[in-house]
Amino acid sequence: MRTAIIVLLSAFALLRGTAAYAQEESIFVYSPNERSGLHVAMEDSTGWHHLGQLCSSDYGTWGAEKRMYHPMLKRASDGSWRLVFQVNDYSPLFAAAYSRDLVTWRPQDYPIVSAKQCLQPVIVQDDGDEFTIFFKDKQGATYAVGATNDFRHFSRTHAYTAPESVWHYGRSEQEVDGKHHQGQCFSISHDEAERLRRHFQALAVDGRLSSERMHDDAKTLTALPSSLKATLTVEAGSAKTISDKLIGIFFEDISYAADGGLYAELVQNRDFEYSSKDRGEWNATTAWHSTTPIEIATEHPLHPNNPHYALLGADTLWNEGWDGIVVEKGKKYDFSMYVLAGGQKQDFDVMLIGGNGSVLAKSRLKTRAKDWQQYTTVLIATGSDDKARLAIAPRKAAHVGVDMISLFPQETFMNRKNGLRKDLAQTIADLKPKFVRFPGGCMSHGQGLENIYHWNHTIGQLQERKPDFNIWHYHQTRGLGFYEFFQFCEDIGAEPLPVLAAGVPCQNSANNKDGIGGQQGGIPMEEMPAYIDELCHLIDWANADPATNEWARRRAEAGHPAPFNLKYLGIGNEDIISTVFEERYEIICKALNERHPEIKLCGTVGPFHTPSADYIEGWDYTRRHPDYQYMTDEHYYESTGWFMHHRNYYDQYPRTLSTGVASPKVYLGEWAASTNVKRPNIETALAEALYLTDIERNGDIVEMTSYAPMLCKDGHSNWNPDMIYFSNTSIRTTPAYEVQRLFSVNSGDRYIKTLLTLENADLQHRVGASLVSDSKTGKRFLKLVNALPCRLDITVKGLQLPSTVQCEQLSGAVDDQKAHAELITTDNPTLLPPYCIRVIALQ
Ligand code: AHR
Repeated sequence: MRTAIIVLLSAFALLRGTAAYAQEESIFVYSPNERSGLHVAMEDSTGWHHLGQLCSSDYGTWGAEKRMYHPMLKRASDGSWRLVFQVNDYSPLFAAAYSRDLVTWRPQDYPIVSAKQCLQPVIVQDDGDEFTIFFKDKQGATYAVGATNDFRHFSRTHAYTAPESVWHYGRSEQEVDGKHHQGQCFSISHDEAERLRRHFQALAVDGRLSSERMHDDAKTLTALPSSLKATLTVEAGSAKTISDKLIGIFFEDISYAADGGLYAELVQNRDFEYSSKDRGEWNATTAWHSTTPIEIATEHPLHPNNPHYALLGADTLWNEGWDGIVVEKGKKYDFSMYVLAGGQKQDFDVMLIGGNGSVLAKSRLKTRAKDWQQYTTVLIATGSDDKARLAIAPRKAAHVGVDMISLFPQETFMNRKNGLRKDLAQTIADLKPKFVRFPGGCMSHGQGLENIYHWNHTIGQLQERKPDFNIWHYHQTRGLGFYEFFQFCEDIGAEPLPVLAAGVPCQNSANNKDGIGGQQGGIPMEEMPAYIDELCHLIDWANADPATNEWARRRAEAGHPAPFNLKYLGIGNEDIISTVFEERYEIICKALNERHPEIKLCGTVGPFHTPSADYIEGWDYTRRHPDYQYMTDEHYYESTGWFMHHRNYYDQYPRTLSTGVASPKVYLGEWAASTNVKRPNIETALAEALYLTDIERNGDIVEMTSYAPMLCKDGHSNWNPDMIYFSNTSIRTTPAYEVQRLFSVNSGDRYIKTLLTLENADLQHRVGASLVSDSKTGKRFLKLVNALPCRLDITVKGLQLPSTVQCEQLSGAVDDQKAHAELITTDNPTLLPPYCIRVIALQ
């Protein structure tokens, strides 16, 4: 520690805080305000000028957190950089980051300290190559924590009275473009300065390109002729094998996708488990009504995982459903309810009541339950209403417990009990997805450690399942659980791709009661073996023999003795690739690979594409471990301009690693193009279709893709754009859906080299083509995309096209949100109208 202080003090002697570099230039590093992250300015003869943002705080939840206070940057003796900053004034942790060149930053770590707060952290390099971080608490007590040279491992906190000078480490005030800021000055070499300049120039160019909009074409592409010529050259003998699972679906319970959505249950809060954890104003009686206050009890519950139930007196109990209950004349509805009545006889009239008070269906339920017992009846509708309510009327004054009150249409997808809404599931099935990723998204890793999705809480009898709050601010019954997900996959012929947490919750988690947010330190290491067992149990549950395996026995008891044949398992969802994450991720993957080498593991590389810190660190990790990393999950939501200008994104991915081993594959697990309109339209569809022609070309390295999110219920949106919007009575597929369907239904497992060149090379990014073949059927599918406001007249070389073809085509005005693909017959297959996607199936 003493040597650290000496080094610190001698560093103060240097006016600009660092050693001299040949041909030096000066930089000023500062944070304009707590929400803006760390910025850099450069000096010229006229003063300091802003260059760009180096990094920003990734700590905690959006809104309340993601702040950076008192950043302190330290140049280490080897020229690399360390950064610490305070994240707020109440959490017992600080932020630590590392960079070799100020351009690429390793994902941030948030070491937890044993002090109440962690204010104004500063770094001192010890005389070895390690570091000490000093900080204060609100009382002014000072502490020290040691850090390894790689800034990934931090020692215990010690109370330490550091000299006052530690807190004045050469900060200065500078005027940057007319505004005064506190920060630090450094001298860097001319080459380093050039690199910084080039980095920000490249970002600016990318930003300009990414802002290109088809919506602006009428203003920006005025000089175009009515038709442009292009040449499509097909190298018939050049087929390469590509993934036959390129298009799948992403299912997350977001925007009421599950309860109130795909899951066909018509009763809301059937379990009386709604609470303020789900949403501030909710409680066990939410969605239920009665003329007198509804009594809720917890003594002797139906199951400990469902502790609340209602006590019925003389009054009728009403349920409002999910924005009402849709009742259709002639249809049958399965009603069920658990009753606890101490053996007394109690009859109920169960009714569906229309908005005008008319009785649409009625049945008598006779009960005499000693202990909890389930009673069922079928309601047959004699009328229709979109906003009916369920009424349960005791025939005489009662004092009975009721729970798990359920109403399902008998018609569900494939008529499964506890099944899925038929029309919605069919709309998804029509996509012919090759796989289904579930249960999310952020919902998989959850809001805080307590909310990590545990697959084994979602199987078994409905009352045994553990309901939980949803990270998207509502309640999950878990009625749509792992059994139902796997069954759906089987029903639609898709591979199941469960994605579960890597032992850390969502990095955007709010602070817990100890003031620790983000990944919250992860599942404690001593609990990780149990968590790993839980993941292994999933594989057993899905694949093992019920005769010999306890978990498989549960699958069989639920109605599926045959294995589900699970092949893929995702670990982690766009996590920040912190040290906390990596430590857990590594032991999970090693153990899974050892115990289940047959399972293809999928990792994660954070929420953004290159050059984000998590992407770089995540891919670095993935490529260092091809032995157990089959593929990794990339996520990016981008502008239409970005997609049009990154057409070669995957062309540059190495297929073989430097060790000669094949590279792990890509799973583009969440992606969508969007504009400021935040709804899929022809413009976003064209950008996605162009990109998918590139993905097909790169189908040897890209294994899977899934557009996200998939479902959004009207009035309950957490996210836009989505692929399918729905209400209780309608389903609106979007142009994004059409693109996914066109590419999925017309997919292959061979890519035939196809080059589409436009006479106007500046607009090359606006056209795309790909040709794939299906080795099983021998069919070939030619996809042509014209994202230009004029016709595209294509001359084809190397491929014989019939003079007349029947094909599917999606086209329209760029802002059109309602367009659907049409089956057309054309005797000009390669003359494309403006803004058009055409798919031609060839024998
Ligand atoms: O798709 C919506 C959300 O986007 C997912 O939950 C999350 O993984 C991503 O940030």
